[in-house]
This record gives sequence, structure tokens and C-alpha cells, in this order.
Amino acid sequence: MRYYLGLGGSKHDFATCLVADGQVVAAVEDERLARKKRGYGIPMGHTLASVSYCLDMAGVRLRDIDAILTNDLLEPWCYESLGKGVHVVGHHLTHAASTFYPSGFVSSAVLVADHSGGRWREPDGALVAEVVSFYQGSGDDLTLLDRVACGDSDRTAERCPAFAADLRGSLGTDLLKRPVDSLGRFYARLARIAGCTSVLGDGQVHTESGKLMGLSAHGSADFVRALRACYTLTDHGRVRFHADRSGRGFEQLARDYLAAGVEAADGEPAFRRRANLAFAAQRCLEEMILHSAQYARGLTGETFLAAAGGIFLNGLANEAILRRGTFEHAFIQPASHDAGTALGAAILGAVRDGQWRRPEKPFSALLGRAYSENEVVGAMADATIPHRKVQDPEVVTARAIADGCVVARFYGRGEFGPRALGHRSILADPRRESVRRVLDERIKYREPYRPYAPVVRVENTARYFETSGPSPYMLLIGIATAEGAKAVPAVVHRDGTVRVQEVDAETDPELHRLLGCFEQIAGVPVLLNTSMNVQGEPIVETPEDAARFLFTCNVDALVIEGYVCARSDALLARFLDRYAHEDVIHAK
Ligand SMILES: [Fe+2]
Repeated sequence: MRYYLGLGGSKHDFATCLVADGQVVAAVEDERLARKKRGYGIPMGHTLASVSYCLDMAGVRLRDIDAILTNDLLEPWCYESLGKGVHVVGHHLTHAASTFYPSGFVSSAVLVADHSGGRWREPDGALVAEVVSFYQGSGDDLTLLDRVACGDSDRTAERCPAFAADLRGSLGTDLLKRPVDSLGRFYARLARIAGCTSVLGDGQVHTESGKLMGLSAHGSADFVRALRACYTLTDHGRVRFHADRSGRGFEQLARDYLAAGVEAADGEPAFRRRANLAFAAQRCLEEMILHSAQYARGLTGETFLAAAGGIFLNGLANEAILRRGTFEHAFIQPASHDAGTALGAAILGAVRDGQWRRPEKPFSALLGRAYSENEVVGAMADATIPHRKVQDPEVVTARAIADGCVVARFYGRGEFGPRALGHRSILADPRRESVRRVLDERIKYREPYRPYAPVVRVENTARYFETSGPSPYMLLIGIATAEGAKAVPAVVHRDGTVRVQEVDAETDPELHRLLGCFEQIAGVPVLLNTSMNVQGEPIVETPEDAARFLFTCNVDALVIEGYVCARSDALLARFLDRYAHEDVIHAK
């Protein structure tokens, strides 16, 4: 047995992945272990906790590992104290490997796009960073065909004086941190300007690009034309950002657009302008990524696409690529952000040594560890949380949700990536539109403009939602059918879009069965699925985290590995009386 450890991340999103016997066997993000979202605030100087986590899962030690690989953006403090050599490869190469090899494709185009990747100095002395990379995957080979690199301040200044001036104003001359001509940077900067931010574990304000996508559904096309005047799609899939006729770059233009909004007492005009800005940013991003995807299609001649990099967490952009028919099939890595580079790094080690085995089954994002009954009972007892084992947790959960309860579900292995796919999730009744407000105000404490997503049995998807391809990881955004809009309004966004997660019986039989139980009671095989966390915190990892979550959030119950838990004996008794009936098999 050969073992390969991949360390992922950059200045954030730290993670580890273990490949054993040519297959991915474990992966986890440090944010979940350190309880610091996106890894911001993890104290420097300590080896990542995710390393021990993955080693423990496989029952191996560091000395058993054949090779450790990472990408060139990961902070060296994350691995310096391992006392073992770490092989460093390019950031975009690890993104590319993280999606092509797990895709199961024999060959495909491979597209990587993010804020910025690895940096280097060009022969003319210019410092640049990779921002979009075009690879072709075939068998065990991954070949770089073309790459967009930018960040050269002098050349940018020649091309676009106003835009360069914008950058100098806020950043000095350090363009490496904010590369020009980056799709990811364009979107992130507009998210920041639109106020899509959160304070994270380091006490700093961080941009949350995902919020901008949610906000875009509330906007109109008012700002699209103006924003389009700030960039040009050029040959070879490139995008060139520049000033518009008034001499303003996109950031200044966006600020001016918001400032021109009349602030009314109810805040509505200001919100509308933010939403219009989000709408324009989203449409422009889709146009840009489609342009890159079409170039990748022509460059490779491939009809399948494997994609990764932070931009591909944008489900609307993913959907745009497929809906336009650029590719017949696409595999989007569920951990497309920098944590996913752990996966790519570990796999590259195995590929290099001829150890990688192309997966025969669809990739599963369930790469975290499961927790035993003893661990669950111990955690609940330590937190003095009343708990009872029930005969059929799926039936109990379905009954409670159909009756209007909001239930936290903790089951089996945790998800790798930012989406909760039903194993560390909060579930609710999608038929009740009012449940969104309950979640926003009493449980998740988040902005009301953001959507909630459905999880649906794959065989029933077409009845409720139209998507352009399979969506097992909640990374495609479809449209609700007329029946879907009527039957499950709580998971349909303001503009009729839906961020779908499909579940099949083979990959996740318990969740599939839960949806079936819910259909029997409520008439729809769909549940509202949102992650088990509150705003600004990572998704829960351990039973101890789940116990804390139960006390801080107003869910009606936590169902964890066959146990129903509630905040008090009275609440538990009432819950069991209503939904467990004869199912209770023994007391705590
Ligand atoms: Fe990246």
C-alpha cells in the first residue's frame, strides 16, 4: 500500500487529503477542526490539524507516507514542522489535478480559474500570477496548453491608466496580491463594494463572493451596460479590463453607481442598487467564464470539461457553461476553492508514481470521518443534552419536518467542501415559504436576500427543477418547473432559480430514503437543505460541535446517528411523543 498526503490551501482554506492504494480515502478542511471559517485566525507556526486527522482515519503514521505534496501558495509554516520533505507544485496544477483525476473522464478539457494562483517573474522582469489555466487531461497525463497570467503593473498602466490608478490608490504597487485581468478578482472586488462581507475568525472583514450571487437574483439589468464598458473579451479566451469612456475602471464605476442611489429611510433604493450591481457582476462573470470555456473547447477539441478554482463555486456561471452547450458533460470539483488543492496535490503524488487508479464510481464529497455511537453518546452526555435512540431516525425526521419542525441532521462521514450535502445539515419543509424567515431570524442569522437550496431524489428532479446536467454537489443552478415553484416555494429563489442537490440511492442510501419517507408523508421528495452552522462559522465537524450548535441555535431537534437530541427533557419528550411514537427503543 502506498500513501500520498496532499496539503491544500493558500493563505486560507487549509486542508489535507490522503490517497491510499490509488484512491482518495480522506480529506478535511482545517476550518472545521479549528472552528475558524476559511482558516482565517488559525495561529501560525503549528502543523495543520488536518494532517493528523487524515492519518488517524487511515490508521497510519507520518513515517508510513510515501510522499507529501503541496502547492506553491500554501504557507510553509503549515508543514515546516512535519520533519519530512514536502514536494511543492504549481497552484493551478493542483486545482487541475483535483478535478480531472476524480472526474473519471478518460479525457477532457480542464479549466482552472480563480482569484490568482502561483506567481513568478517573467524574463522581462515583470511579476505575474496565473489566473486562468487551460489543460488537457488524457489518461494519466495532464498537459498545460495555455495560461492567462497577469499582474504586470507597467504593462497594465500603459493599457489602462485609470484602472492602474485605482489599484495604486488602495494597494500601492503590490499588484501581485491583486492581479489585473483576473475574473476572480473582478467578482470579489465587486462583492466587497456591494457589502457582501463577513467578519471571520481573525476579527477581519472578508469578502464573501457567494453572497453576491444570491443578491444578484434581486437585481435588474440597470448597471450591466455600464459595467460591460470596462472590459473586452479578446482572443484566446482572454479578458482585458480597462477604463470606460469616462476614464473610470470597474471599481470606481461601481462605487459611483452605489453612491448615486438615493438613501431612503427604508433603505430600499440602496438595496436595489446593490442588487443591480450584483446582477451586473454576475452577468459579466458568466460572459467571461463562458468565453474562457469556449476557448478551452476549441483548444482541446474535447466535449467533456473538468473544472476547478474558486470561480467554479459560482453555480450560475457553471450552469451558463452547460446551458450554452459549450460542453456535453462537466465535472465541477465540489471543493473548487483552495482547500481542494489538497486533493490535487495528493493525487499528483500517486500519478507520478504510477499508483493512481481512475475511479469507477462517481466522486463522493463524503471524505471526512464518521463518529461512533460511543462518541456521540459521550458528547451528548458531557454536554448534558437529553438524547434517546430511536428505531428509525429517517421516519422520525421526516414526520417532524412535515409537521413544521426544523431538524439538524448529523450522519456518517462529513463533506469535503463548502456545501453541506445532508450529513451536517439543517433540514426543513420546502413547502412552507415561511420557513425561510424562521431560518434567517432564529437559526442561521443571515441576510434575507440569500436563497435556500433543495435536496431531491435524482429520479424526481425533472418534475420540480430543470438543470443542464447532474448536480450531486449543489454546484449547478437550475430553474424551478411550474410544479416545483408551486410545490416547494421555500427553495425557489426570487428569480425562479434553484441551487439543486440530487441524491441517488447508491451514493447516499440513507438520505435517499429520508427523502422517500418525506414524500410519503408530505407528497414531495424534496427537503430544504442548509449547512449546520451560523453565519461566520464553519460547518460542524464533531458530535461536540453539534451539541454546541443545538444550544446556540433554535432548531427543534438534532438527529445524530440514530439519536434524537433536544435542549431539555421536556422538549425531547414532546418531540418523541409526537414523532417517534412506538419507535423509541430505549431510554438514555
Ligand atoms: Fe486557487
